[in-house]
Amino acid sequence: MTEIEDKAETVQLNIQRGDPDNGTYMRQYSIKVDSGMVILDAIHEVQATQAGDLAVRWNCKAGKCGSCSAEVNGKPKLTCMTKLSDYPTGKPIELTPMRTFPLIKDLVTDVSWNYKVKKKLKPYAHTQKSVVQDLRLKQIDVDRMQEFRKCIECYLCQDVCHVLRVHDLKDDFVGPRFLIWLANLEMHPWDNDDRLEEIKEDYGLGLCNITKCCTEVCPESINITDNAIIPLKERVADRYYDPLKWLYRKLFRR
Ligand code: SF4
Ligand code: F3S
Ligand code: FES
Repeated sequence: MTEIEDKAETVQLNIQRGDPDNGTYMRQYSIKVDSGMVILDAIHEVQATQAGDLAVRWNCKAGKCGSCSAEVNGKPKLTCMTKLSDYPTGKPIELTPMRTFPLIKDLVTDVSWNYKVKKKLKPYAHTQKSVVQDLRLKQIDVDRMQEFRKCIECYLCQDVCHVLRVHDLKDDFVGPRFLIWLANLEMHPWDNDDRLEEIKEDYGLGLCNITKCCTEVCPESINITDNAIIPLKERVADRYYDPLKWLYRKLFRR
């Protein structure tokens, strides 16, 4: 299979156009490719030469703002970090908006549901200063927090997760991005709140059946499933499904 190499070639892009009011359709564009081009460059080339009204969201072009998320051949990607040379020549590349969120226009979706989810989660609650002085952060805690805080909120993990994408359970499931956020606080030695009840009852942890698709698409290589979701599941199982702990809670109403 040949790939687009360091020479100018033509590539076909099939781009989804349209909006919910007027309907959507696929339109084919042909552009000349320069070496090192990423998908976002190709979209900009189409915008500049053939479709000035093509809607696309982007910001940093450096894989750090999380704005340019879309689907390339049906797979969630940051378009600014996806090289054209990753795709075989001679076949059109299909560009569509993220399927899990409502379409605004062309490649742009409305991701505001995620902001609403974030608002309803209990924030960090700092432990009393005197206690914190005795609770030194260990390197393992720092490493975990740094991994979770790499999230750029591109929502590609939310886009790919079947609980949201296929079953549309947005009222029952906060999605992998926010399970990371919750795991970070639940395992934070200085956080003084308890969110396990909500994680189990309201945020839909049980709906995740560990398919790991979220981990596969994360551009920051956060090990979402193994490092965040599974430890949360273990904590819930430990508290709610351990018979001795259940009996203790029943007896002492705790
Ligand atoms: Fe994007 Fe990864 Fe954050 Fe999900 S966890 S929003 S895929 S950076
Ligand atoms: Fe969804 Fe990730 Fe779980 S893709 S099902 S949240 S492992
Ligand atoms: Fe910022 Fe792609 S434009 S991540």
